[in-house]
Amino acid sequence: MTRLVPLRGDLSDEKADLIVHFQFEGDDSPASATDPRFRESITAVLKGDGFEAKADTSLLWHGDGRQRAVRYLVQGLGRRESFGLEVLHRAAAAAGSKGSGLKVRRAGVALAPPSAWGLKPEEAGRMAAGGFLYGCYRFEKYLSSARGDGGPAELMVGTQKADPGQFRDPLRETRAVDRVLRLARDLVSEHAGYLHPRRVAEVARREARRAGIECRILGEAEMRRLGMGGMLGVARGSEHPAVLAHLRYRPRRAGSRKAPKVVLVGKGVTFDTGGISLKQADGMETMKADMSGSAAVLATMLALPGLKVPAEVHGLLMIVENMPDGRAFRPGDILRIYNGKTVEIKSTDAEGRLILADGLSWACRNLKPDYLVDLATLTGACMVALGPGCTGVMGNDERFVRRILRAAAQAGERMWQLPLYPEYREHIRSDVADVKNSGIRYGGAITAGLFLQEFVEPGVPWIHLDIAGPAYYENGYGYAPKGATGHGVRTLLQFLRSLS
Ligand code: BES
Ligand code: MN
Ligand code: ZN
Repeated sequence: MTRLVPLRGDLSDEKADLIVHFQFEGDDSPASATDPRFRESITAVLKGDGFEAKADTSLLWHGDGRQRAVRYLVQGLGRRESFGLEVLHRAAAAAGSKGSGLKVRRAGVALAPPSAWGLKPEEAGRMAAGGFLYGCYRFEKYLSSARGDGGPAELMVGTQKADPGQFRDPLRETRAVDRVLRLARDLVSEHAGYLHPRRVAEVARREARRAGIECRILGEAEMRRLGMGGMLGVARGSEHPAVLAHLRYRPRRAGSRKAPKVVLVGKGVTFDTGGISLKQADGMETMKADMSGSAAVLATMLALPGLKVPAEVHGLLMIVENMPDGRAFRPGDILRIYNGKTVEIKSTDAEGRLILADGLSWACRNLKPDYLVDLATLTGACMVALGPGCTGVMGNDERFVRRILRAAAQAGERMWQLPLYPEYREHIRSDVADVKNSGIRYGGAITAGLFLQEFVEPGVPWIHLDIAGPAYYENGYGYAPKGATGHGVRTLLQFLRSLS
């Protein structure tokens, strides 16, 4: 694990393997280079190279012998007008990714003065350090020799603030978040031959015990007793029985007011073949990532004790494998969800909403949440609507939606609202059951949201996050390395921290 060290100044006097600076397009030097001598040297180098500091570009400089670090990386931020926390996170991640390839032991990120960035210093520090660590991550468990190094032993954060000690808490949090993000990304990256439903439950139990939160595992017998027909139906074609992991975090001291209760429900399909409505072979391997929602919920839960979140938080991991088989559920079948509603199966590939329906309705009836959130790699249609880098946000409570969107902006994750038009409910009307599990091709992300809404009790503020795009990048995407991202964790933690 990387040690994070706040220091005063732009780190130009520090010995290091790599120091990162950030520069706006149109500037002749990085706003973070505040030491006059260093600034003079780097300005000449940048000019000589014709560096323009466009977004996603960088310049690596080995110094001219007068500096103490081995290398300096100037990372372009693009235009000042489009700058924000997300841009900084992404630039820092790109720098981290390069640093990881260079096997850097001691690194630093230099922050610009608050006036240059218009960001709170602590937030800037969190984004720059968090982004750098984020970019260092690689999934190399199955490589005979590692290509990256997972991150430096030490990362300095250079601040213009008089008292770098004020960074201690934000950086401690950054480190805690980085730890759980790595866990989420490891789980999503694991292949489904290894990470089958029981394994996910084992990891949840082990990590929950380590973190000091409660964890209860429900098996199929329990689900049968409860009437969770969605979970049991989807799991029928698999060798592996369905599992539900219920995690619970309670704040140490609730204070005078009663702590709000939040329930997070994660889609945990360890592999989605589509079932009898089989997917095409091309790209199917990425469906090992169809448990990203559950991984994000687990990671979020594990970070809560360290962040002293002032809410009671429950995590429900709905874990199944969706396989075709002689015993598998089929199109035309009718399943009964926990709350008694029946569902006509149009496509066994619209499985996520079936398991979430059990989770959402169970949560409403048994936990009475003040806030209910589900995370799911639910629809390809959401990627068609918003592209690969953005989560679709739907909900039954506008104030709650706005809160989540604000948390996402502060966390530097891209999220955008989609409407839950009631008239689209027509698309999932069934002649033989209360609802059917898929509609027409158009507006597929929205009809999935409307389906879920059928299983949320009126009056319970609820948000659905369709993370199908940003959970996993098959080819890498901008700054994001190939593979699992842990998307959603930072937004959820930001939201939960705001509940005091
Ligand atoms: N897990 C998929 C959605 C998905 C697709 C996530 C691509 C990430 C990348 C989900 O279970 C699914 O198959 N959805 C169907 C729904 C349809 C049958 C109504 C889809 O999107 O095609
Ligand atoms: Mn599917
Ligand atoms: Zn799926």
